[in-house]
Amino acid sequence: MLTKAPRGTKDITPKESYKWNYVENKFREICSLYGYEEIRTPVFEHTELFKRGVGDTTDIVQKEMYSFTDKGDREITLKPEGTAGAVRAFIENKLYSEPRPSKLFYITPCFRYERPQAGRQRQFHQFGVEALGSDLPSIDAEVIALSVQFFKEIGLKDLSVSINSVGCPKCREEYNKKLREYLDKKSEVLCETCIDRKDKNPMRVIDCKNKTCQENLKDIPFMIDNLCDDCKNHFDMLKEYLNEMRINYVVDKTIVRGLDYYKKTAFEIISSDIGAQSTVCGGGRYDGLVYELGGPKDITGVGFALGVERLLLTLENNNIEIENNNSLDIFVVTIGEKANLKSFSIVKSLRDNYIKCDKDHLNRSVKAQFKYSDKLNSKFTVVIGDDEIENNTVVLKNMNTSEQFTISLSNLVDELKSRI
Ligand code: HAM
Repeated sequence: MLTKAPRGTKDITPKESYKWNYVENKFREICSLYGYEEIRTPVFEHTELFKRGVGDTTDIVQKEMYSFTDKGDREITLKPEGTAGAVRAFIENKLYSEPRPSKLFYITPCFRYERPQAGRQRQFHQFGVEALGSDLPSIDAEVIALSVQFFKEIGLKDLSVSINSVGCPKCREEYNKKLREYLDKKSEVLCETCIDRKDKNPMRVIDCKNKTCQENLKDIPFMIDNLCDDCKNHFDMLKEYLNEMRINYVVDKTIVRGLDYYKKTAFEIISSDIGAQSTVCGGGRYDGLVYELGGPKDITGVGFALGVERLLLTLENNNIEIENNNSLDIFVVTIGEKANLKSFSIVKSLRDNYIKCDKDHLNRSVKAQFKYSDKLNSKFTVVIGDDEIENNTVVLKNMNTSEQFTISLSNLVDELKSRI
Protein backbone atom coordinates (compact mmCIF):
# COMPACT_ATOMS: atom_id res chain seq x y z
CA MET A 1 0.00 0.00 0.00
CA LEU A 2 2.64 2.48 1.10
CA THR A 3 4.75 1.90 -2.00
CA LYS A 4 1.87 1.89 -4.45
CA ALA A 5 0.50 5.05 -6.03
CA PRO A 6 -3.31 5.37 -5.83
CA ARG A 7 -5.27 3.67 -8.63
CA GLY A 8 -5.54 5.83 -11.72
CA THR A 9 -2.40 7.85 -11.00
CA LYS A 10 1.06 7.47 -12.48
CA ASP A 11 4.54 8.58 -11.57
CA ILE A 12 6.45 10.39 -14.25
CA THR A 13 10.02 9.23 -13.72
CA PRO A 14 13.12 10.57 -15.50
CA LYS A 15 12.64 7.81 -18.10
CA GLU A 16 9.63 9.80 -19.26
CA SER A 17 9.85 13.27 -17.79
CA TYR A 18 12.09 14.47 -20.63
CA LYS A 19 9.20 13.73 -23.02
CA TRP A 20 6.87 15.78 -20.83
CA ASN A 21 9.35 18.65 -20.85
CA TYR A 22 9.62 18.46 -24.60
CA VAL A 23 5.87 18.58 -25.29
CA GLU A 24 5.36 21.25 -22.63
CA ASN A 25 8.04 23.46 -24.15
CA LYS A 26 6.58 22.93 -27.61
CA PHE A 27 3.12 23.85 -26.36
CA ARG A 28 4.45 27.01 -24.70
CA GLU A 29 6.29 27.91 -27.90
CA ILE A 30 3.21 27.51 -30.10
CA CYS A 31 0.99 29.40 -27.64
CA SER A 32 3.46 32.25 -27.64
CA LEU A 33 3.46 32.29 -31.47
CA TYR A 34 -0.27 32.92 -31.33
CA GLY A 35 -0.03 35.49 -28.53
CA TYR A 36 -1.37 33.32 -25.70
CA GLU A 37 -0.01 33.90 -22.20
CA GLU A 38 0.09 31.49 -19.29
CA ILE A 39 -2.42 31.49 -16.46
CA ARG A 40 -1.95 29.32 -13.39
CA THR A 41 -4.93 28.67 -11.19
CA PRO A 42 -5.32 26.59 -8.01
CA VAL A 43 -5.59 22.82 -8.20
CA PHE A 44 -8.73 23.02 -6.07
CA GLU A 45 -11.69 25.36 -6.29
CA HIS A 46 -15.08 25.74 -4.63
CA THR A 47 -17.25 22.80 -5.72
CA GLU A 48 -19.95 25.23 -6.78
CA LEU A 49 -17.70 26.54 -9.57
CA PHE A 50 -17.72 23.19 -11.36
CA LYS A 51 -21.40 22.55 -10.67
CA ARG A 52 -22.24 25.87 -12.28
CA GLY A 53 -19.48 25.83 -14.89
CA VAL A 54 -19.23 22.27 -16.13
CA GLY A 55 -22.91 21.61 -15.45
CA ASP A 56 -24.98 19.71 -12.90
CA THR A 57 -26.15 17.06 -15.34
CA THR A 58 -22.73 16.09 -16.69
CA ASP A 59 -21.00 12.80 -15.83
CA ILE A 60 -18.10 14.86 -14.49
CA VAL A 61 -20.20 16.63 -11.85
CA GLN A 62 -22.51 13.72 -11.10
CA LYS A 63 -19.99 10.93 -10.81
CA GLU A 64 -16.40 11.92 -11.29
CA MET A 65 -15.41 14.80 -9.05
CA TYR A 66 -12.93 14.51 -6.22
CA SER A 67 -14.88 16.57 -3.70
CA PHE A 68 -14.43 17.02 0.02
CA THR A 69 -15.31 19.32 2.87
CA ASP A 70 -12.21 21.08 4.19
CA LYS A 71 -11.44 21.82 7.83
CA GLY A 72 -13.21 25.17 7.51
CA ASP A 73 -16.39 23.44 6.27
CA ARG A 74 -15.93 24.61 2.68
CA GLU A 75 -17.04 22.38 -0.19
CA ILE A 76 -13.92 21.91 -2.27
CA THR A 77 -13.20 19.99 -5.50
CA LEU A 78 -9.95 19.09 -7.24
CA LYS A 79 -10.27 20.56 -10.71
CA PRO A 80 -11.70 18.07 -13.20
CA GLU A 81 -10.81 20.38 -16.13
CA GLY A 82 -9.12 23.70 -16.75
CA THR A 83 -11.76 25.99 -18.23
CA ALA A 84 -13.88 26.78 -15.16
CA GLY A 85 -10.86 27.80 -13.06
CA ALA A 86 -9.39 29.89 -15.87
CA VAL A 87 -12.70 31.70 -16.35
CA ARG A 88 -13.08 32.22 -12.58
CA ALA A 89 -9.59 33.73 -12.49
CA PHE A 90 -10.35 35.87 -15.56
CA ILE A 91 -13.33 37.34 -13.73
CA GLU A 92 -11.73 37.66 -10.29
CA ASN A 93 -8.63 39.38 -11.67
CA LYS A 94 -10.71 41.61 -13.97
CA LEU A 95 -8.74 40.53 -17.01
CA TYR A 96 -11.76 41.65 -19.03
CA SER A 97 -10.72 45.27 -18.50
CA GLU A 98 -7.56 44.58 -20.51
CA PRO A 99 -7.43 44.58 -24.34
CA ARG A 100 -9.59 41.78 -25.74
CA PRO A 101 -9.55 39.00 -26.53
CA SER A 102 -7.71 37.73 -23.47
CA LYS A 103 -5.61 34.87 -24.75
CA LEU A 104 -4.70 32.44 -22.02
CA PHE A 105 -3.06 29.04 -21.88
CA TYR A 106 -2.48 26.57 -19.06
CA ILE A 107 -0.75 23.35 -18.24
CA THR A 108 -2.47 21.62 -15.37
CA PRO A 109 -3.17 18.33 -13.60
CA CYS A 110 -6.87 17.39 -13.57
CA PHE A 111 -8.78 14.85 -11.50
CA ARG A 112 -11.71 12.67 -12.51
CA TYR A 113 -12.88 9.56 -10.71
CA GLU A 114 -13.15 7.35 -13.80
CA ARG A 115 -12.38 3.69 -14.45
CA PRO A 116 -8.70 3.70 -15.39
CA GLN A 117 -7.58 2.22 -18.70
CA ALA A 118 -5.06 3.10 -21.40
CA GLY A 119 -5.33 6.86 -21.88
CA ARG A 120 -7.75 7.28 -19.00
CA GLN A 121 -6.50 8.13 -15.54
CA ARG A 122 -7.84 9.63 -12.36
CA GLN A 123 -5.10 12.20 -12.25
CA PHE A 124 -4.23 13.30 -15.77
CA HIS A 125 -2.83 16.45 -17.34
CA GLN A 126 -4.21 18.99 -19.76
CA PHE A 127 -2.66 21.59 -22.02
CA GLY A 128 -5.37 24.13 -22.74
CA VAL A 129 -6.06 27.53 -24.22
CA GLU A 130 -8.94 29.91 -23.63
CA ALA A 131 -9.63 33.04 -25.69
CA LEU A 132 -12.09 35.33 -23.96
CA GLY A 133 -13.83 38.40 -25.31
CA SER A 134 -14.47 37.86 -29.01
CA ASP A 135 -17.66 36.35 -30.38
CA LEU A 136 -16.37 36.18 -33.94
CA PRO A 137 -15.71 32.81 -35.58
CA SER A 138 -12.22 34.01 -36.49
CA ILE A 139 -11.05 33.30 -32.96
CA ASP A 140 -12.60 29.80 -33.09
CA ALA A 141 -10.59 29.24 -36.26
CA GLU A 142 -7.44 30.55 -34.59
CA VAL A 143 -7.86 28.25 -31.59
CA ILE A 144 -8.30 25.25 -33.90
CA ALA A 145 -5.30 26.36 -35.98
CA LEU A 146 -3.18 26.57 -32.83
CA SER A 147 -4.05 23.03 -31.80
CA VAL A 148 -3.41 21.69 -35.31
CA GLN A 149 -0.05 23.43 -35.52
CA PHE A 150 0.95 22.05 -32.14
CA PHE A 151 0.14 18.48 -33.19
CA LYS A 152 1.95 18.96 -36.50
CA GLU A 153 5.07 20.39 -34.86
CA ILE A 154 5.47 17.39 -32.60
CA GLY A 155 5.15 15.09 -35.57
CA LEU A 156 1.46 14.11 -35.62
CA LYS A 157 0.49 15.21 -39.08
CA ASP A 158 -2.44 12.92 -39.75
CA LEU A 159 -4.79 13.60 -36.88
CA SER A 160 -8.25 14.47 -38.03
CA VAL A 161 -10.12 17.53 -36.79
CA SER A 162 -13.87 17.07 -36.44
CA ILE A 163 -16.06 20.11 -36.06
CA ASN A 164 -19.71 20.63 -35.27
CA SER A 165 -22.07 23.29 -34.01
CA VAL A 166 -24.11 22.65 -30.89
CA GLY A 167 -26.21 25.79 -31.38
CA CYS A 168 -27.10 28.54 -28.93
CA PRO A 169 -29.82 28.69 -26.24
CA LYS A 170 -32.25 30.06 -28.83
CA CYS A 171 -32.01 27.31 -31.42
CA ARG A 172 -31.16 24.63 -28.85
CA GLU A 173 -34.49 25.13 -27.12
CA GLU A 174 -36.38 24.52 -30.35
CA TYR A 175 -34.14 21.59 -31.17
CA ASN A 176 -34.50 20.05 -27.69
CA LYS A 177 -38.28 20.16 -28.09
CA LYS A 178 -38.00 18.37 -31.43
CA LEU A 179 -35.50 15.89 -29.98
CA ARG A 180 -37.66 15.07 -26.96
CA GLU A 181 -40.64 14.42 -29.22
CA TYR A 182 -38.49 12.08 -31.25
CA LEU A 183 -37.07 10.37 -28.15
CA ASP A 184 -40.51 10.01 -26.54
CA LYS A 185 -41.42 7.71 -29.39
CA LYS A 186 -38.36 5.59 -28.67
CA SER A 187 -38.78 5.35 -24.89
CA GLU A 188 -39.17 1.58 -24.90
CA VAL A 189 -35.87 0.92 -26.60
CA LEU A 190 -33.66 3.42 -24.83
CA CYS A 191 -31.27 2.58 -21.99
CA GLU A 192 -31.74 4.10 -18.54
CA THR A 193 -29.03 6.71 -19.06
CA CYS A 194 -30.70 7.91 -22.26
CA ILE A 195 -34.10 8.13 -20.58
CA ASP A 196 -32.50 10.24 -17.89
CA ARG A 197 -30.66 12.40 -20.43
CA LYS A 198 -33.81 12.86 -22.49
CA ASP A 199 -35.26 15.07 -19.78
CA LYS A 200 -32.13 16.74 -18.47
CA ASN A 201 -29.99 17.26 -21.56
CA PRO A 202 -31.42 15.41 -24.56
CA MET A 203 -28.57 16.16 -26.97
CA ARG A 204 -26.27 13.97 -24.84
CA VAL A 205 -28.30 10.93 -25.97
CA ILE A 206 -26.26 11.13 -29.17
CA ASP A 207 -23.17 10.21 -27.11
CA CYS A 208 -24.66 6.93 -25.85
CA LYS A 209 -22.38 3.97 -26.55
CA ASN A 210 -25.14 1.37 -25.96
CA LYS A 211 -25.52 -0.73 -29.14
CA THR A 212 -29.34 -0.98 -28.90
CA CYS A 213 -29.67 2.77 -28.48
CA GLN A 214 -27.34 3.38 -31.40
CA GLU A 215 -29.33 0.96 -33.59
CA ASN A 216 -32.60 2.65 -32.72
CA LEU A 217 -31.46 6.22 -32.98
CA LYS A 218 -30.14 6.11 -36.53
CA ASP A 219 -32.56 8.77 -37.74
CA ILE A 220 -32.13 11.08 -34.73
CA PRO A 221 -32.27 14.78 -35.63
CA PHE A 222 -28.97 16.63 -35.24
CA MET A 223 -28.41 20.14 -33.88
CA ILE A 224 -26.43 21.20 -36.92
CA ASP A 225 -29.46 20.69 -39.18
CA ASN A 226 -31.54 22.88 -36.88
CA LEU A 227 -29.34 25.95 -36.32
CA CYS A 228 -30.66 29.50 -36.19
CA ASP A 229 -29.28 31.94 -38.77
CA ASP A 230 -26.71 33.39 -36.37
CA CYS A 231 -25.27 29.96 -35.46
CA LYS A 232 -25.34 28.79 -39.06
CA ASN A 233 -23.54 31.90 -40.21
CA HIS A 234 -20.95 31.46 -37.43
CA PHE A 235 -20.32 27.87 -38.50
CA ASP A 236 -20.10 28.74 -42.20
CA MET A 237 -17.57 31.48 -41.49
CA LEU A 238 -15.52 29.12 -39.33
CA LYS A 239 -15.35 26.62 -42.18
CA GLU A 240 -14.35 29.37 -44.59
CA TYR A 241 -11.47 30.47 -42.33
CA LEU A 242 -10.29 26.88 -41.89
CA ASN A 243 -10.42 26.38 -45.67
CA GLU A 244 -8.42 29.59 -46.16
CA MET A 245 -5.73 28.19 -43.81
CA ARG A 246 -5.91 24.81 -45.60
CA ILE A 247 -6.71 23.08 -42.34
CA ASN A 248 -8.34 19.72 -43.03
CA TYR A 249 -11.47 18.97 -41.09
CA VAL A 250 -14.61 16.92 -41.26
CA VAL A 251 -18.02 17.99 -40.04
CA ASP A 252 -19.15 15.41 -37.49
CA LYS A 253 -22.78 15.92 -36.52
CA THR A 254 -22.44 13.54 -33.58
CA ILE A 255 -20.03 15.69 -31.55
CA VAL A 256 -21.96 16.91 -28.53
CA ARG A 257 -19.13 17.15 -25.92
CA GLY A 258 -19.52 16.05 -22.32
CA LEU A 259 -19.57 19.48 -20.66
CA ASP A 260 -22.62 21.70 -20.51
CA TYR A 261 -21.09 25.06 -21.35
CA TYR A 262 -20.64 24.63 -25.10
CA LYS A 263 -22.46 26.90 -27.56
CA LYS A 264 -21.98 27.05 -31.33
CA THR A 265 -18.55 25.58 -32.22
CA ALA A 266 -17.54 22.21 -30.81
CA PHE A 267 -14.52 20.33 -32.04
CA GLU A 268 -12.43 17.26 -31.33
CA ILE A 269 -9.16 15.84 -32.52
CA ILE A 270 -9.16 12.09 -32.68
CA SER A 271 -6.32 9.59 -32.76
CA SER A 272 -7.47 6.25 -34.10
CA ASP A 273 -4.63 4.33 -32.49
CA ILE A 274 -5.10 4.62 -28.74
CA GLY A 275 -8.14 2.41 -28.45
CA ALA A 276 -11.40 3.49 -26.88
CA GLN A 277 -10.02 6.71 -25.41
CA SER A 278 -9.33 8.22 -28.78
CA THR A 279 -10.19 11.88 -28.24
CA VAL A 280 -6.87 13.56 -27.67
CA CYS A 281 -8.18 17.10 -27.80
CA GLY A 282 -11.59 18.65 -27.32
CA GLY A 283 -12.91 22.16 -27.23
CA GLY A 284 -15.35 24.73 -28.42
CA ARG A 285 -17.13 27.95 -27.72
CA TYR A 286 -18.72 28.69 -24.36
CA ASP A 287 -20.61 31.97 -24.68
CA GLY A 288 -22.49 32.67 -21.46
CA LEU A 289 -20.06 30.91 -19.12
CA VAL A 290 -18.37 34.13 -17.97
CA TYR A 291 -21.78 35.55 -17.07
CA GLU A 292 -22.91 32.28 -15.46
CA LEU A 293 -19.86 32.42 -13.21
CA GLY A 294 -20.49 36.02 -12.14
CA GLY A 295 -18.63 38.03 -14.80
CA PRO A 296 -19.82 40.63 -17.31
CA LYS A 297 -22.68 39.58 -19.57
CA ASP A 298 -21.20 40.19 -22.99
CA ILE A 299 -17.93 38.28 -22.70
CA THR A 300 -17.76 35.13 -24.76
CA GLY A 301 -15.09 32.47 -24.89
CA VAL A 302 -13.63 29.64 -26.91
CA GLY A 303 -10.85 27.17 -26.18
CA PHE A 304 -9.67 23.61 -26.07
CA ALA A 305 -7.79 21.18 -23.88
CA LEU A 306 -5.71 18.21 -24.88
CA GLY A 307 -4.80 15.28 -22.68
CA VAL A 308 -1.04 14.99 -22.28
CA GLU A 309 -1.11 11.25 -21.44
CA ARG A 310 -3.15 10.59 -24.59
CA LEU A 311 -0.84 12.79 -26.61
CA LEU A 312 2.22 10.82 -25.46
CA LEU A 313 0.46 7.51 -26.12
CA THR A 314 -0.37 8.68 -29.64
CA LEU A 315 3.25 9.67 -30.22
CA GLU A 316 4.38 6.26 -29.02
CA ASN A 317 1.88 4.43 -31.20
CA ASN A 318 3.07 6.42 -34.20
CA ASN A 319 6.70 5.55 -33.40
CA ILE A 320 7.56 9.20 -32.95
CA GLU A 321 10.56 9.32 -30.67
CA ILE A 322 11.45 12.27 -28.53
CA GLU A 323 15.16 12.74 -28.13
CA ASN A 324 16.46 12.79 -24.60
CA ASN A 325 19.05 15.53 -24.63
CA ASN A 326 19.59 15.49 -20.90
CA SER A 327 22.84 13.58 -21.36
CA LEU A 328 26.00 14.90 -19.75
CA ASP A 329 28.59 16.91 -21.66
CA ILE A 330 31.42 15.50 -19.60
CA PHE A 331 32.16 13.13 -16.74
CA VAL A 332 35.22 13.83 -14.62
CA VAL A 333 37.02 10.60 -13.66
CA THR A 334 39.41 10.93 -10.71
CA ILE A 335 42.31 8.79 -9.52
CA GLY A 336 43.21 9.24 -5.86
CA GLU A 337 42.33 11.60 -3.04
CA LYS A 338 44.22 14.63 -4.37
CA ALA A 339 42.46 14.40 -7.74
CA ASN A 340 39.12 13.89 -6.04
CA LEU A 341 39.61 17.14 -4.11
CA LYS A 342 40.74 18.98 -7.27
CA SER A 343 37.70 17.68 -9.16
CA PHE A 344 35.43 19.87 -7.00
CA SER A 345 36.87 23.08 -8.44
CA ILE A 346 36.95 21.60 -11.97
CA VAL A 347 33.32 20.49 -11.83
CA LYS A 348 32.30 23.81 -10.31
CA SER A 349 33.97 25.83 -13.03
CA LEU A 350 32.42 23.60 -15.74
CA ARG A 351 28.97 24.09 -14.22
CA ASP A 352 29.57 27.83 -13.80
CA ASN A 353 30.10 27.82 -17.55
CA TYR A 354 26.89 25.88 -18.23
CA ILE A 355 28.69 22.70 -19.21
CA LYS A 356 26.65 19.72 -17.99
CA CYS A 357 28.99 17.58 -15.96
CA ASP A 358 29.21 15.11 -13.12
CA LYS A 359 31.70 13.26 -10.97
CA ASP A 360 31.73 10.15 -8.82
CA HIS A 361 30.10 10.25 -5.40
CA LEU A 362 30.52 6.58 -4.42
CA ASN A 363 34.30 6.11 -4.26
CA ARG A 364 34.18 3.99 -7.44
CA SER A 365 37.26 2.46 -9.02
CA VAL A 366 38.49 4.10 -12.23
CA LYS A 367 36.97 1.30 -14.30
CA ALA A 368 33.63 1.67 -12.52
CA GLN A 369 33.73 5.45 -13.03
CA PHE A 370 34.12 4.90 -16.80
CA LYS A 371 31.24 2.44 -16.76
CA TYR A 372 29.08 4.91 -14.85
CA SER A 373 30.04 7.70 -17.26
CA ASP A 374 28.91 5.45 -20.11
CA LYS A 375 25.59 4.78 -18.39
CA LEU A 376 25.04 8.52 -18.02
CA ASN A 377 25.63 8.84 -21.76
CA SER A 378 28.26 11.52 -21.32
CA LYS A 379 29.73 12.94 -24.50
CA PHE A 380 33.24 13.35 -23.07
CA THR A 381 35.27 11.98 -20.20
CA VAL A 382 38.36 13.46 -18.63
CA VAL A 383 40.71 11.63 -16.28
CA ILE A 384 42.40 13.55 -13.46
CA GLY A 385 45.21 11.99 -11.44
CA ASP A 386 48.32 13.22 -9.62
CA ASP A 387 50.27 13.56 -12.89
CA GLU A 388 47.55 15.57 -14.57
CA ILE A 389 47.41 17.99 -11.66
CA GLU A 390 51.19 18.34 -11.63
CA ASN A 391 51.58 18.81 -15.42
CA ASN A 392 48.37 20.79 -15.82
CA THR A 393 47.44 18.59 -18.80
CA VAL A 394 44.52 16.20 -19.16
CA VAL A 395 43.33 13.67 -21.70
CA LEU A 396 39.90 14.42 -23.00
CA LYS A 397 38.08 11.46 -24.49
CA ASN A 398 35.19 11.70 -26.94
CA MET A 399 32.96 8.83 -25.83
CA ASN A 400 31.25 8.47 -29.20
CA THR A 401 34.32 8.31 -31.42
CA SER A 402 36.85 7.19 -28.76
CA GLU A 403 39.18 9.96 -30.02
CA GLN A 404 41.51 11.39 -27.35
CA PHE A 405 43.06 14.84 -27.06
CA THR A 406 45.70 16.06 -24.67
CA ILE A 407 44.86 19.57 -23.54
CA SER A 408 45.85 21.91 -20.80
CA LEU A 409 43.64 21.56 -17.72
CA SER A 410 43.18 25.32 -17.58
CA ASN A 411 41.79 25.20 -21.14
CA LEU A 412 39.19 22.52 -20.36
CA VAL A 413 36.19 24.87 -20.36
CA ASP A 414 37.11 26.63 -23.63
CA GLU A 415 38.06 23.37 -25.29
CA LEU A 416 34.73 21.78 -24.37
CA LYS A 417 32.75 24.84 -25.42
CA SER A 418 34.27 24.58 -28.88
CA ARG A 419 33.59 20.85 -29.13
CA ILE A 420 30.03 20.52 -27.75
P1 HAM B 1 -12.63 17.33 -22.18
O1 HAM B 1 -13.01 16.79 -23.52
O2 HAM B 1 -13.42 16.87 -21.02
O3 HAM B 1 -12.68 18.90 -22.32
O4 HAM B 1 -11.11 17.02 -21.89
C1 HAM B 1 -10.09 17.42 -22.78
C2 HAM B 1 -9.09 16.30 -22.97
O5 HAM B 1 -8.60 15.85 -21.70
C3 HAM B 1 -9.67 15.03 -23.60
O6 HAM B 1 -9.74 15.14 -24.98
C4 HAM B 1 -8.66 13.98 -23.15
O7 HAM B 1 -7.54 13.97 -24.01
C5 HAM B 1 -8.22 14.49 -21.79
N1 HAM B 1 -8.89 13.71 -20.73
C6 HAM B 1 -10.13 13.87 -20.23
N2 HAM B 1 -10.38 12.98 -19.25
C7 HAM B 1 -9.26 12.23 -19.12
C8 HAM B 1 -8.86 11.14 -18.29
N3 HAM B 1 -9.67 10.66 -17.36
N4 HAM B 1 -7.63 10.61 -18.46
C9 HAM B 1 -6.78 11.10 -19.40
N5 HAM B 1 -7.09 12.13 -20.21
C10 HAM B 1 -8.31 12.68 -20.08
C11 HAM B 1 -12.38 19.75 -21.31
O8 HAM B 1 -11.86 19.43 -20.27
C12 HAM B 1 -12.65 21.19 -21.66
N6 HAM B 1 -12.30 22.02 -20.49
C13 HAM B 1 -11.89 21.63 -22.88
C14 HAM B 1 -12.12 23.06 -23.25
C15 HAM B 1 -11.31 24.09 -22.99
N7 HAM B 1 -13.19 23.52 -23.87
C16 HAM B 1 -13.06 24.84 -24.00
N8 HAM B 1 -11.93 25.19 -23.46
